[in-house]
Amino acid sequence: MIIKIIIALILLPVLIHYSIKFIKHKSLYPFMPFKYNFRRRRITFAKTLKLLDERNAKVIIETGTSRKGLKATKTDGAATIVFGKWAKQNNAQMHSVDISEHSVKGAQKEVNNQQLQDFVKLHLNDSLEFLKTFNKPIDFLYLDSYDYSRKDVKIQKKSQEHHLKEFKIIEDKLHRNSIVLIDDCGLPGGGKGKTVIAYMLERGWKILINAYQVLLVKEESLS
Ligand SMILES: C[S@@+](CC[C@H](N)C(=O)[O-])C[C@H]1O[C@@H](n2cnc3c(N)ncnc32)[C@H](O)[C@@H]1O
Repeated sequence: MIIKIIIALILLPVLIHYSIKFIKHKSLYPFMPFKYNFRRRRITFAKTLKLLDERNAKVIIETGTSRKGLKATKTDGAATIVFGKWAKQNNAQMHSVDISEHSVKGAQKEVNNQQLQDFVKLHLNDSLEFLKTFNKPIDFLYLDSYDYSRKDVKIQKKSQEHHLKEFKIIEDKLHRNSIVLIDDCGLPGGGKGKTVIAYMLERGWKILINAYQVLLVKEESLS
């Protein structure tokens, strides 16, 4: 009897530990293998994938690429690979731009590894310069470039201004059914999206999900 109690006392914390881990694990299964945990982005990634299907997206733009490939699903998000995979499955084209050679090299490695090269093009450039030259209608715009800071207010402002500038440059390439997702919004100071979201809300955009990421579509596309 005592041995059974001792075994139970040993096993209980292990069971609790793995149960908590399981509950906290936010996968995009079956779209992505179960082992990848997308944490706070799962809700918005899942809804975006659904919208991409429904709206038959063909052109995707991401600012700020997945520098760590699929290694950073919990931290950076790994959006280049997630939406790149969707692009491959749906014969769409994704363009991801990044100012850092290191980031582009890191992303390219995983793009090649996943055999997404024909569907994901990585551009080494400042996002503002790249967006100025992009001249096709955009179905899905993902803003996630200029790194934000939890503490440094100057960096916060610069990041927010940068994301607003990105949006303003590319705004006229967005259409009735375009989808916009902005990363790192649920942070002190309002996150990357604070300024651009305020701008969008005055121009007929509606927030579909307001979480760590903010997902927006045009109000007219909902009627
Ligand atoms: C958070 S990471 C992007 C993560 C990626 N979207 C993902 O889901 O894994 C931010 C990236 O933005 C890039 N970046 C910063 N400023 C930029 C700029 N002005 N133009 C383009 N990329 C920029 C950084 O080099 C970095 O690789």
